[in-house]
Amino acid sequence: MAIEKTLILCKADTVARGLTGEVLARFERRGYTIAAMKILVCDEARAKKHYAEHEGKPFFAGLVGYITSAPIVALVLEGSDAIEGARATIGATNPIKAGPGTIRGDYGQTIGRNLVHGSDSAESAAREIAIWFEPSEIFSRTNDLEQWLVSN
Ligand code: RTP
Ligand code: MG
Repeated sequence: MAIEKTLILCKADTVARGLTGEVLARFERRGYTIAAMKILVCDEARAKKHYAEHEGKPFFAGLVGYITSAPIVALVLEGSDAIEGARATIGATNPIKAGPGTIRGDYGQTIGRNLVHGSDSAESAAREIAIWFEPSEIFSRTNDLEQWLVSN
């Protein structure tokens, strides 16, 4: 078990549908803390950098269009094994396969509008956090109490 940071995006559909609060509440209720957060319209260059691993795939243009089409909320979550844990809370990539109780399973219908992004590994998290945030914008909020909560 390790205290990790992970990059989360509330994608354009989440913000447009007024579900940002619902999404944030689910992460917070699970015990993760918000270390950084901003609302912004992502430009194409940043979208392509973020999703570089998917360049060349048939859905890449649509994915970049989706993420740049309207305001999104980017945040850094922190907590115990937060990378894997946040992905479990988000659910399977295709909402139709995502279980009830996950964000995608409860609020999504299609893979092209699946509400939330979460980093998929420690390497991805480090790379992605640097794309979206300056170090000075990130506030580690894990304190002694949280350490105690997750270590027992
Ligand atoms: P994310 O990166 O957004 O957290 O999603 P993920 O890890 O669950 O899925 P990933 O394979 O990284 O795919 C990134 C995003 O691309 C879109 N996608 N569309 N039409 C398709 O077959 C397809 N496959 C992926 C989704 O929006 C997915 O979240
Ligand atoms: Mg991914």
